[in-house]
Amino acid sequence: MKIFVPLDSAAKALGADEVAAAIQIEAGNRGLDVTVVRNGSRGMIWLEPLVEIETDGTRKAFGAVTAEDVPSLLDGTLESLGTVEDIPFFARQTRLTFARCGLIDPLSLAEYEAHGGLVGLKRALALGEEEIVAEVTNSGLRGRGGAGFPTGIKWDTVRKAVSARKYIVCNADEGDSGTFADRMLMEGDPFTLIEGMIIAGLATGATKGFVYIRSEYPDAIAVMEAAVRIGLKAGLLGTNVLGSGKAFDLEIRTGAGAYVCGEETSLLNSLEGKRGIVRAKPPLPALEGLFGKPTVVNNVLSLATVPVIMEKGAEFYAGFGLGRSKGTMPIQIAGNVRYGGLFETAFGMPLGELINDIAGGTASGRPVKAVQVGGPLGAYMPVSKFNTPFGYEEFDGQGGLIGHAGIVVFDDRADMLKMARFAMEFCAVESCGKCTPCRIGAVRGVETIDRIDAGDAGAVHLLTDLCDTMKDGSLCALGGFTPYPVMSALTHFPKDFARQKEAAE
Ligand code: NAI
Ligand code: SF4
Repeated sequence: MKIFVPLDSAAKALGADEVAAAIQIEAGNRGLDVTVVRNGSRGMIWLEPLVEIETDGTRKAFGAVTAEDVPSLLDGTLESLGTVEDIPFFARQTRLTFARCGLIDPLSLAEYEAHGGLVGLKRALALGEEEIVAEVTNSGLRGRGGAGFPTGIKWDTVRKAVSARKYIVCNADEGDSGTFADRMLMEGDPFTLIEGMIIAGLATGATKGFVYIRSEYPDAIAVMEAAVRIGLKAGLLGTNVLGSGKAFDLEIRTGAGAYVCGEETSLLNSLEGKRGIVRAKPPLPALEGLFGKPTVVNNVLSLATVPVIMEKGAEFYAGFGLGRSKGTMPIQIAGNVRYGGLFETAFGMPLGELINDIAGGTASGRPVKAVQVGGPLGAYMPVSKFNTPFGYEEFDGQGGLIGHAGIVVFDDRADMLKMARFAMEFCAVESCGKCTPCRIGAVRGVETIDRIDAGDAGAVHLLTDLCDTMKDGSLCALGGFTPYPVMSALTHFPKDFARQKEAAE
């Protein structure tokens, strides 16, 4: 009998290690032939630790399991959730990037292959650089880190750049609040990312890759390092990728906890051992990136989606989605919700359906007030915008952004002035200090919001003006996008910015 207990850090935080240990001890005491497999998470955080028991090829799910539940789990008296595939939150997903996550042992290359792994890479090895790039371009894949730049066009820029040395850099510095898809993927299916990076290398002529992982993700770092070791031993990585004669070498690097190092040029500086300060663009990293060489910088999800595109074809992938937002997006639902977790779906689902239907509304049972989409730099969407379909252009048209697809839900107790203040404070703390609108502007922003809080209504105009300056004058998205949460809070929830005055009157 196989028992799956996630090694995912969210599951571990909720007691998965204790449950796994209890199963080993109890099975030993009972003389049962049990193999405990530490899989990735299936993404339903409220059910973690979600344990699955496989007998006769069928997996029955149990959750949230505690160490005290283990005797009844092994007795067969603990109530089952049925199969994971039957749980509505899971059944309604279209899992392409996360197809294997939670299903397999993340560090078994054999299981990876048995579930469709390496098919895309083998196909890519038989194609030329231009053909691989064309496949990725035609799939419509856009940068999943947040900016949504077409991945194929970025790769083509690197491919065409003439240089003896090129690099593939994976941005795994997932710093957005409420996001965890990169971590979950790395912990639950690391070979998908490795395969995607090798394909990126084949497409562009790069033979060396780095995965830059935030230091706050020790489990992801450990799994990725182990996967690289296994990949090297199995001939997936190294000087002769799968016997093709092509080389690809991969290193895992750890960040040091700065949000701004998720910005690609700052990340490259950090990788080079320098202070994580933003570089002016141009030159684009695609032309002068790591150590001045042409470099692909892609988010984990962008790279991890490439294998399924190469396996099933561009047309298959582009068949999902809405308008220019092709394919699927692993949406991360967090904050005050009943059912939080990872929900991969084709672009196009209305925001309200995600919140009210999929996530079951607020955990508190109170009405939703605002939803922040796209991390700390994303706009607060009011309930009146719940019919906005989840897509790049659709959100942009409503003054928002989908960013890395993190959704954080707040109920009617949220004080939007305080949320706006937090955005400015966050920017002041995390600013790299290179440009004035961000370095000074964010500090002035906090002070200005404090004035509004104290009843100075005239300061609202000043705040709007400051936001315009930050938006237009900042060098990177940190200073440039902080106005999104601030201005959306001010625009959609003006009462929260007037309350002190009313109280004074
Ligand atoms: P950007 O729009 O400047 O660039 C997007 C990407 O396209 C970059 O990699 C850039 O080098 C590349 N690019 C642009 N023109 C190109 C060309 N002609 N050829 C090749 N490559 C080209 O956006 P940026 O500053 O890289 O990212 C901003 C986004 O990051 C925001 O939308 C925000 O949502 C997101 N973000 C994500 C975070 C996370 O934790 N994932 C954290 C903070 C922000
Ligand atoms: Fe640095 Fe802020 Fe300017 Fe970005 S906007 S370069 S983080 S000072």
